[in-house]
Amino acid sequence: MFKNLNIVVGVTGGIAVFKAVSLVSELVKKGANVYVIMTKNAQEFVTPLTFKSISNNDVVVDMFESPDNWDNKHISLAQKADIMIIAPATFNIIGKVATGIADDFLTTTIAATKSKVVFVPAMNDNMYENKIFIRNTNILKKNSYYFIDPEIGRMACGTFGKGRYPKNEKIIQKLTEIISYNERFKGLNILITAGPTKEYIDPVRYISNRSSGKMGYSIANIANRCGANVKLISGPVNINAEVGIELVNVISANDMNSEVFKSYKNFDIIIMVAAVVDYKMENISNIKIKKENEKMTLNLIKNPDISMNLGSSKDKFLLVGFCAETNNLIENAKLKLKKKKFDMIVANDVTKEGAGFEGDTNVVTIIDCYDNLYNIEKSSKEYIAEKILNNAITLYDKLYRNPRK
Ligand code: PMT
Repeated sequence: MFKNLNIVVGVTGGIAVFKAVSLVSELVKKGANVYVIMTKNAQEFVTPLTFKSISNNDVVVDMFESPDNWDNKHISLAQKADIMIIAPATFNIIGKVATGIADDFLTTTIAATKSKVVFVPAMNDNMYENKIFIRNTNILKKNSYYFIDPEIGRMACGTFGKGRYPKNEKIIQKLTEIISYNERFKGLNILITAGPTKEYIDPVRYISNRSSGKMGYSIANIANRCGANVKLISGPVNINAEVGIELVNVISANDMNSEVFKSYKNFDIIIMVAAVVDYKMENISNIKIKKENEKMTLNLIKNPDISMNLGSSKDKFLLVGFCAETNNLIENAKLKLKKKKFDMIVANDVTKEGAGFEGDTNVVTIIDCYDNLYNIEKSSKEYIAEKILNNAITLYDKLYRNPRK
């Protein structure tokens, strides 16, 4: 996997620079072409000669003195990179990249590259929990930069907490996942529905639900970061889609249904996360309804069941459904899987602490058409999105890409 891969390692100034030396050595042993860029502060810990001897390549330390054989421009390394890893990544480098500063060779290369960029933060635990740092990492994550979490332990400064440079094996394993994810998802067309729908009663009132879109957008973001072509059909929410995602905004279940059916044949995987409102007004009043009576009855009719319609038009795409339940979770999810012809269903009991609507976490059970069950404890919606995509791609490969004869 690493053979002949061009990996640019950005080394910034922290005590963990020593560990980056063995990371470079491991990557070289695995057959990668490694090019190291060091910031000025990194050179206070280790000399460029150490990295040069291990990588067998010149080490760039200065914006204006890049070696002659690299076209003499930071752009050439940015273009050459198949992947960039910043290890260790200090508070400073993360802040600079998040705010668009490009004032040395490393930050300029990060700004100019189109390759994946992976940060390995390592710093004092208070710095790691600093709100500005958290804001900066969130900005970068939203813009498709990857992060490998530090470990909890004793820090060089003597304190104990989260911020230790992770083991190199963990970094290599995560890099392997990122690269292989990208190989598996590259070029795949994925359609995702997210958020609630709104069914108008009159010009000022509507029926809807608590879906924030966070679960669906997390799946869209991860798939987009992995190189898939992602179309997101979203009901009204207050979050933004990441750059690279084709976003179509809709209001009602009818709109969502038409949008899905316009293009569903172009997709390899369809993931129905949206909390579609099941009923709509038989007739929407075009003037504000007056409160004249003590009681009021709304005449509702059924909305189209988008996933059910998709299930009956199923061809060579993987159909993944969601299931929001308040009781008999697994039983109801299995029934929905069969009834709607899903290949896989993600069941969440929305009454559980940390699960379901609005929050940043979920608790789910993934059930596939072979009756395999995977329970995921309370985790961030991003983490759950990764697991869902991982299961979906494995099932897609099995059912549609490499079906056994
Ligand atoms: O958006 P968040 O705040 O992050 O919350 C996430 C979530 C709770 C919305 C999400 O995890 C979730 O459970 N989504 C599905 C909600 C739902 O409508 O479940 P359901 O069991 O009613 O529907 C089953 C499946 O049919 C779903 O895939 C749904 O998208 C689909 N459906 C439902 C009704 C309908 N008319 N058309 C559909 O396609």
